[in-house]
Amino acid sequence: MTIMKKNQIKTVKGFNEVLPPESFRWRLVEDKFRNLLEGYGFAEMRLALLEPTELFSRSIGGETDIVEKEMYTFSDRSERSLTLRPEGTASVVRAFNQYSLGKISEINKLYYVGPMFRYERPQKGRYRQFHQLGAEVFGEASFYQDAETLVMLAQFFQALSIDGIILQLNSLGCEDCRPAFREQLQSFLLERESLLCGDCQRRIKENPLRALDCKNPSCREVVVDAPQINESLCGDCREHFSGLCGLLDDVGLDYQINSKLVRGLDYYTRTTFEFLAGDLGAQNAVAAGGRYDRLVEELGGKMTPAFGFAIGFERLMMLAGDKLGPLSSPFVTLIPLDEEALRRLFPIYVKLNRDAGIATLGLQQKSLKSQLKKADKDGAKYALIIGPDELEKGVAICRNMQTKEQTGIAFTELEETLRRLYQD
Ligand code: HAM
Repeated sequence: MTIMKKNQIKTVKGFNEVLPPESFRWRLVEDKFRNLLEGYGFAEMRLALLEPTELFSRSIGGETDIVEKEMYTFSDRSERSLTLRPEGTASVVRAFNQYSLGKISEINKLYYVGPMFRYERPQKGRYRQFHQLGAEVFGEASFYQDAETLVMLAQFFQALSIDGIILQLNSLGCEDCRPAFREQLQSFLLERESLLCGDCQRRIKENPLRALDCKNPSCREVVVDAPQINESLCGDCREHFSGLCGLLDDVGLDYQINSKLVRGLDYYTRTTFEFLAGDLGAQNAVAAGGRYDRLVEELGGKMTPAFGFAIGFERLMMLAGDKLGPLSSPFVTLIPLDEEALRRLFPIYVKLNRDAGIATLGLQQKSLKSQLKKADKDGAKYALIIGPDELEKGVAICRNMQTKEQTGIAFTELEETLRRLYQD
């Protein structure tokens, strides 16, 4: 536990930061994500963190928990309402329209990595600043795209040796079939209005689907018998959904259909999904997303079908745990036993790191014992020790950290010998 002194400043509550050595693990996973996505033809976007508030109320929806209760919104010095992005999709769509990306290429596959901000009650796996690895595909309406993206996500979890993840799927229909379902759901909810929480009662008229997603126990009980959206799908939506399920069956990707999976954001059409992990406890969705064929147009662009997902980075790391294997370690640790030895080792330290690209640590003036202990902890392959005796003889001690075998290397041959050992 860290003890804070009275006058020290702390992070804002729920803002998750990543410290070493965890940050090394994060980078390892991030690199795997980038490599996988770039292999599938995705390119990275580095997006603005702060957006006009309207972007989120128009995309995520005014009557959602995110927009009503969870956004970090404030006015800047020109009295313009700005919001720290609670998610990435709206920003990617904003950028897609702003830079006319649809004109540059027919299919756009974009990914992003970074922090998101939601004023939620912090708990294990839920933070106010958290991080997402996300991706969006524009310009492809076919269920093949949905399937390809889901298979890619499953492949990513597999590459991290994370198993036991369940894929849940649903279809929310389209502007042709959803209105009838909405009405049906509305009358169902109105008949049971007194049993619903305040939010759901208030949203019955404008956004009844939110009740299906409500975490309130009494609302959950009410919606058990609610009409099922997948029974109201039009022919095209049904075909899209069964086409997707068929492709997943063909490649052996298991899934469960969950007709209550409406997601907490309003922009979805047709496919929605979540990858759930029992090991995560209450906050069990490690990744989620779906299709949003209307959003580009709703935000002022040309009608463009789209599909995407976001992985919760913190939750992913809880699952990846120790399965990531050893972190990268230094090749050699340089151990000077006095000031003069430090002076002698410094040029070698620079040459190995800078010219030879050999990861080299050390140059601390601590006891031999504690430096060897640290080299061991860092996973160094060799330790190079120079003290007064070695300076006198002009020969350094090179210790193989695994076998504990020690050999002498003449100062004049130090760099070359280490380069050779590194290449072996
Ligand atoms: P979302 O379900 O709101 O979807 O978030 C995606 C993932 O981010 C969640 O499954 C979870 O792992 C993680 N997450 C969300 N909130 C928190 C939090 N407070 N603390 C920690 N992790 C959290 C979206 O954000 C959509 N933009 C996904 C998408 C992309 N749909 C289409 N394209």
